[in-house]
Order: sequence, then C-alpha cells, then structure tokens
Amino acid sequence: AQTVSRNADGVVTVGGVDVKQLAEEFGTPAYVMDETDFRERARAWRTAFGTDADVFYAGKAFLSRAVVRWLNEEGLNLDVCSGGELATALSAGMPADRIAFHGNNKSTTEIRRAVEAGIGRIVLDSFQEIVRVAHIAQELGVRQRVQIRVTVGVEAHTHEFIATAHEDQKFGIPLAGGQAAEAVRRALQLDGLELIGIHSHIGSQIFDMSGFEVAAHRVVGLLKDIRDEHGVELPEIDLGGGLGIAYTSGDDPREPYEIAKALTEIVTRECETAELRTPRISVEPGRAIVGPTAFTLYEVGTIKPLDGLRTYVSVDGGMSDNIRTALYEAEYSVALVSRTSDAEPMLVRVVGKHCESGDIVVKDAFLPADLAPGDLIAVPATGAYCRSMASNYNHVLRPPVVAVGDGEARVIVRRETEEDLLRLDVG
Ligand code: LLP
Repeated sequence: AQTVSRNADGVVTVGGVDVKQLAEEFGTPAYVMDETDFRERARAWRTAFGTDADVFYAGKAFLSRAVVRWLNEEGLNLDVCSGGELATALSAGMPADRIAFHGNNKSTTEIRRAVEAGIGRIVLDSFQEIVRVAHIAQELGVRQRVQIRVTVGVEAHTHEFIATAHEDQKFGIPLAGGQAAEAVRRALQLDGLELIGIHSHIGSQIFDMSGFEVAAHRVVGLLKDIRDEHGVELPEIDLGGGLGIAYTSGDDPREPYEIAKALTEIVTRECETAELRTPRISVEPGRAIVGPTAFTLYEVGTIKPLDGLRTYVSVDGGMSDNIRTALYEAEYSVALVSRTSDAEPMLVRVVGKHCESGDIVVKDAFLPADLAPGDLIAVPATGAYCRSMASNYNHVLRPPVVAVGDGEARVIVRRETEEDLLRLDVG
C-alpha cells in the first residue's frame, strides 16, 4: 500500500517525503507517485500469476520511461496501443518481444514499426486488419505472432463508455454469427501470421468476476471449435484488464492472487470439460497496478461558500489533469494534507480553474470549515487515466509526475512550460 502517514506537525508524508516539501520543490498541481507501491503491486500481479501466465501492464493507464524500467525490472510485459506508447516502451528498453500492440485503427506506419521492431504480438481487431498485418509482415519477410480480439457479448457492469464486450461497439470481432470463427479461418490461411491465441477484454473498473467467467467460457468454446475445425489447439488466451480499484470507501477491490486463482480455475475447468490442453493465460491490468499508487496534490485557491448549498473550493488544476469526473461521473475523495484541523466538516465541491461549470474534480466531499487559500489538499487514486488523459485545455500546463520512495522525490515527467506550449505553435 502507499506509504502515507502524518508527521508530528500533521503534515502528510508519502514515501518518506512531506507534501509541503513536495509542493515547494515541484509546485502544484502535481501527481505524486509512490514507486515502492507501484513495484509492489506489479510484483503482486506477477507472483499471483506465476510462470505459467503473463502479465501485460496496460500502458494507456499511465506510461513513462521510468515506469517502463520498473515494469521491466519486475518482470512484467507491456501492452501499448499507439505508436507513441510503443516509442516510449522501446526507448526505455522494454524488449520488443514482451510488448503487445492493441487498437482498433492501427495505422500501417504503426504496424510496420511494430513488426520491424520484433513486437511480441499484435492483437488483431478487425477483418481488414488481419489482411493489413499479414501483408506488412510478408513484405518484411516475417511471420508475425498475433491474437484475435473477440467480443463475447457480455454486459460488464461499469460505465457504458468503458464497457467493451457487448457487440454493438468498435472493438473486436463478435463471436456471434460465426464472425470470430471466420476471422480465425482467414488468419490461419495467411503466411504472414502466426495465430497464437484469442483475446477478450470486457471493460474497465469491474468488481464482479462473473463477466470474466462468461468471457472465459465463450473464448474456450471458440478454442474448441477451432480444434474441431482445424485440428489446432491455440496455445494462448488473453482475458484483458479491467479490474476495479477503490476510489472511495464504498469500493471493494479484489487482490491479484484472488483474481489469478479465479481466472486460472475458470480456464482450466472449461478446458477440461472441452478436452483441450489448458492454454497459457495472459492478463492486462492497468488501473489496478498504477491507479492507487498516486495522488494529485493541489493548492487551495478561491473558496466560495454558497449559503444552504455547499462551499466551492477551487484548486489550481481541474479537468485538464483529471477528466474522469466530468467524463464518467467518477467519484473521488479528498483530504487536507498540509496540516490537521479540528474544525467542523463542511460540504464542499472541489472544482478546477477551467472555464466551464462541469470542471469538477470531487463532486461531494467534506473538508474542515477552516480551510483557507494556500492549504494543500490531495485527491487519492489518480495514478491511472489522469496524467495519461490530461489536456492543455485553456492552455493550462500539464502537471509533473513526481516519484517518491525511501525519503526521496524525483521528477519522472516534468511539468509543461509555456515554452513547451509555444514551441508547437508555429503559425
Ligand atoms: N486491455 C485492453 C485491451 C484495454 O482496452 C484496456 C483498457 C486494458 C487492458 C486496461 O484496463 P484497466 O485494467 O486499466 O481497467 N479511461 C477510462 C478507462 C479506459 C480503459 C480502456 N481500456 C477510465 O478512466 O476509466
């Protein structure tokens, strides 16, 4: 867990560094990431799945070169979904054969670069892409290892924007109507491809394991059909990512070992019934590894009490560093971290500095009534999909990511500067 505590002055410390010191040295807002916690979570996933399975960290949750090195050292693989993520991974020394490439619209340039680099696997997302990748691989004189992503028709219980296994959507090839079976038929015929398995990702921020059970059942069903039709037993099955984390005290996440046990049992049982050799399992957690390892540190600015309603607390960031509240109605908590207070709690809405009223960071929370401009507050569990989805809206500069551990802090992604912004503006 994150090494958060309060020192004798009531100031919160993380990884042995106090937040006032962090704010002075690196400014606010800043994402503060606990390296020890990240490594422990990565290792917990790795250990839980053991040597008969692979853990691909989903880089979309948060990716930087330091993170790639941590993953490499902890024995995890990496899932990328764009040329930019691939470039980051390669530049930080992740071996290409431990990288998987996802996406529903990979460009030919991206595909070519991945194949040339010797990428471990490309996850094929459509009929057109099967042909596209085969063609590029053949041109380059290689047989590319691929998986086919299928949609299994499960309704994952999560926000509709992040549910991905129902059929009416852009990702994957439906199992329904024999479409996935047809995709397999085509992939097996093409010389440029080595089909190693089937992939399913049902959605994100999921707590209920039953969706994974149904997915595993249906994917194994396809593996059986493939064996019956083609006489080949595909060696791998990827069940994607999507395991939920605790954003507020109401959330009850599963531990990696429980997830590993559940998934392994389901696949093994299904394969026994189908008389198939159990394939090698892989998973792609993003949020579950990085989400809880960081908080966003903000400085309190304008405080506006609205009688009978609530108090609006403005911070020096907002929807540009955390779009999740506005986009998914995500719930967060918040705490005063630069001091303790005995004052009564007051109902607050933590809002950003952007020019729209939907710019909310924490919709409903309580902070002490003596809160004042200059206080530092922290929003936990912002390691995933916050920096990676950050924007420059209103030409606000994207915050740095500061890694802490063993009493030390260092910047792993620096704060943007006005020069950074202006450098791109060449008109
Ligand atoms: N594998 C695939 C194929 C994915 O599409 C995703 C996430 C993952 C793995 C990792 O999922 P995770 O373990 O992190 O839940 N921006 C949204 C989440 C979008 C997830 C997209 N795909 C959010 O902030 O909640």
